[in-house]
Amino acid sequence: MAEVVFSQQTLATLEGKVVVLTGGAQGVGAATVRMACEAGAHVFFGDWADDKGRDVEAALKKTSAGGKGSANFQKVDVREYASQLALFDAAYRAHGRVDVAISCAAVGEPAGFFEPASLDLQSIREEPRALTANLDINVTSVLLFSRIALAYITASKSSSSSSSSSFSPSIVLVSSIAGITEAPGLFAYSTAKHGVIGLMRALRPVAPLRYGVRVNAICPWATDTQLLAGVKDRWVAEKLPLNQPVDVAQMILQCAADPSLNGKSVFVAGGRGYDTEEGYDKTQGQWMGEKLAEEWNRGQRVLGMGDGWTD
Ligand SMILES: NC(=O)c1ccc[n+]([C@@H]2O[C@H](COP(=O)([O-])OP(=O)(O)OC[C@H]3O[C@@H](n4cnc5c(N)ncnc54)[C@H](O)[C@@H]3O)[C@@H](O)[C@H]2O)c1
Repeated sequence: MAEVVFSQQTLATLEGKVVVLTGGAQGVGAATVRMACEAGAHVFFGDWADDKGRDVEAALKKTSAGGKGSANFQKVDVREYASQLALFDAAYRAHGRVDVAISCAAVGEPAGFFEPASLDLQSIREEPRALTANLDINVTSVLLFSRIALAYITASKSSSSSSSSSFSPSIVLVSSIAGITEAPGLFAYSTAKHGVIGLMRALRPVAPLRYGVRVNAICPWATDTQLLAGVKDRWVAEKLPLNQPVDVAQMILQCAADPSLNGKSVFVAGGRGYDTEEGYDKTQGQWMGEKLAEEWNRGQRVLGMGDGWTD
């Protein structure tokens, strides 16, 4: 198993770097904002939970006073393109650069859309807007975030105020274990989180070569935040592995700063992180068959970087 190990030394390379993050008002996002800020990064974070975001910002302003990092909150609704753009703009205006972009905002499953009671020929006539709204937050916004991030990071590298260090910029997308395995009851959430893994896989061969930007995904299992509230008691009673938000934050920032990491899906369980892509790739010959795997790899070479065959 390919364990991803958190390193304080790697975290320290974030000092002076500019980090943009969505979903930073609580839970995993807030833990990531704190850790990055304490490591000396300038963190620009957004969330639609205005009060909670401002509380995180105010607390960090107090504790990190005199430190090198800074925390800068603004209200963001990731469903709105202009709102995400404004977050990147704020970072770029203040520092002339963006080094790391972390998409963490998400919501849980809207209940009741796949239960027998909601599936008859009468109830199905009503459009389930909560399902599409869920996808807007959990996957469409992540696609838009990634596109905006590539533009800002690329502009940073060519801007005159570029940092002189050899730091390797990156995007980190927070998916879920529900993005790589089956997830009972999570129909829309799982659709979206698999989409996030699809996006990471589409970007990983292209983004480093074309933009000099690494891309990784984080797949937390049960983590002690409000998202887990509905099942937490049973989870703890069964003594199942439970992450603290800070454990997931460590994996996010390890992927953000470690120049050797690209194209990983880091499964975070019981406080430790494991790349699942390595095993998936290594066993390709088993689940696809050796002959088809060889042909598939030839097909991938024909598709190349994806130029010239997509409209
Ligand atoms: N907690 C878990 O067990 C678990 C497991 C797997 C994956 N995750 C993922 O980890 C990430 C963090 O989740 P968390 O557990 O900290 O949950 P959380 O609910 O504490 O944090 C999510 C944050 O996203 C924000 N957000 C939601 N919709 C938004 C919008 N439209 N615009 C701006 N901000 C918005 C929320 O206000 C909140 O602050 C999410 O991507 C989640 O899917 C969590």
